[in-house]
Amino acid sequence: MTKETYKFPENFLWGGATAANQLEGAYLEGGKGLNLADVMPGGKVRLKVIGEPGFDFKIDKEKYVYPNHDGIDFYHRYKEDIALFAEMGFKTYRMSIAWSRIFPKGDELEPNEEGLAFYDRIFDELKKYNIEPVVTISHYEIPLHLITEYGGWRNRQVIEFFERYAITLFKRYKNKVKYWLTFNEINGATHMPILGLGFSPESEETKLQDSFQGLHHQFVASALAVKAGHEIIPGSQIGCMLVYVPTYSFDSNPANVMHALQEQRLFNNYCGDVQVRGAYPAFANRFFKENGINLDVREGDLDILKEGTVDFISLSYYMSRTEKKDKTPEEIGQGNLIGGVRNPFLSTSDWGWEIDPIGLRIGLNQLYDRYQKPLFIVENGLGAYDKVEEDGSINDDYRIDYLRSHIQAMGEAIEDGVELMGFTPWGCIDLVSASTGEMSKRYGFIYVDKHDDGSGTLERKKKKSFFWFKDVISSQGEKL
Ligand code: BG6
Repeated sequence: MTKETYKFPENFLWGGATAANQLEGAYLEGGKGLNLADVMPGGKVRLKVIGEPGFDFKIDKEKYVYPNHDGIDFYHRYKEDIALFAEMGFKTYRMSIAWSRIFPKGDELEPNEEGLAFYDRIFDELKKYNIEPVVTISHYEIPLHLITEYGGWRNRQVIEFFERYAITLFKRYKNKVKYWLTFNEINGATHMPILGLGFSPESEETKLQDSFQGLHHQFVASALAVKAGHEIIPGSQIGCMLVYVPTYSFDSNPANVMHALQEQRLFNNYCGDVQVRGAYPAFANRFFKENGINLDVREGDLDILKEGTVDFISLSYYMSRTEKKDKTPEEIGQGNLIGGVRNPFLSTSDWGWEIDPIGLRIGLNQLYDRYQKPLFIVENGLGAYDKVEEDGSINDDYRIDYLRSHIQAMGEAIEDGVELMGFTPWGCIDLVSASTGEMSKRYGFIYVDKHDDGSGTLERKKKKSFFWFKDVISSQGEKL
C-alpha cells in the first residue's frame, strides 16, 4: 500500500543524470580522440552489430548513422542546459567525463589541456547555481586506441592508464568535485563485455574467462582510484555503480528459487561484494571452477581491493528479472534485457522493459541489508516516444506516472530504514540511447528537437514532467 506523501531527508540530492558520450557531441573537437561510442552505430541494430564476434571497431558511414558524434550538442549548449536544470531546482547533476577528451589515445603520459578546461567550464557553470556534480569517471567509455592496440580491459596494462586518468581528474578538480563514481554499471560487463570492458568476445567459450578477468582489472583499477581520490581530495565520497536488477523466482518450485538465487548473486552481488566489502564472495570459487575460469590475480591485488573499498553504493534501476531453471523455447528471449522470463504481473515500456516500482523498494532493501552503506539512485526513468502537440506542448503523463511510482517506492524504502542519499533520474534532458542509439527513446524532462535520422533544430522545450519534477524537488518529495 503506498501513501500519499513521504518524508525525504533535508539534504537529499535531487537532480538528473547523463553521460558524456550520449549528449556532448563534438566528437572530434577540443583535441578529443575517438572512443568506443564513436564507432557504435545508431538504431535497433546497435547491440547486434557491436555484440557480434569480430566487430571491427570502425566507422562505416555508408552503412550506418552515428548519433553519438553529435549527441545533443551539449558541448556547445551546456550553459542553456544547466540553466534549465537550475530552473527545475536540481541540487545535483550526475555527469561523466569523456576519457578520450582527457587522454585522447589513453596511453599518453600528459593530458589534453583543452579537454580538462572544458570540464572546468562545466563545473564552474554548475557552481553558479549551487548544483553539486556527481562525476562518473568511466561511463561506457574507453579511448578507441586502448581497444584496438591493447584489447580493452582484458589487458592488465589498462589499469595503469585508468589510474593515471583518475588521478589527473582528482588533482585538477579537487576543489570542484566531491562525489565520484568509478565505473558505470560495472556488473553489466559480463552481460555485454563490449560496453563495459571494451572488447568483442572471440567466442562464447572465451567470453566468460575474458569478462571475469577484465572485471578483476576494473576492480583493481577502481580500488586504486578510490585510494588515490581519498588521499588527493580529503572528504571526497567515492562510490561504485551497479545496474541493480532484483531477481525473482518464477514460482515457489525450489529448483527455480535456487536458480533465481544463483542469478541474483552472480549478477547483482558479485561486483558489489568486491567493491564494498573488499573481497571476492565465497560463491565465486565454485562458479569459477565449474565454468573453467582461471583468474590471474597478482600479488598485492587482494590487498588493493581491501584498501580501496567504496564509501557508498550508487545504482541504476530500470527493471526486475524473473527466473526459471528450465525455460521452454517460447519463454527464451521473452524476459528482460538481461534475460529471464516474462513476469505476468508487470506491464512493459515501449521498448519491452518491465515496469516494477516495488522491485526498486525490494532492491534498495536487499542492498542495504547486505552492505549497510548509503545508497544513491543515479539512474531510473522511462524511455518513451514523446509527441509534440501543435501548440508545442509535450504531455508526458506516462513519464510522470512512472517516476511518481518509483519515488513512492523510494519513500517506502526510506521508511524501511534504508539510507538513501539522492535520486538523479536518467536522461534528464533527451539524449542518445545507449542500447539502441536512438533519439526517439526519450527519457528527458527537457525535449530536444533531434531525430533518429539526424535531423532537427536542437531546440530545447520543457515537457509537462519538467514542471512536475520542479514541484517534487521544491516540496522535498511531498507533492508527487
Ligand atoms: C543505463 C546506462 O544502462 O541505462 C545509460 O547507464 C543508458 O547509459 C540507460 O542510457 C538507459 O538505457 P537506454 O538503452 O534506454 O539508453
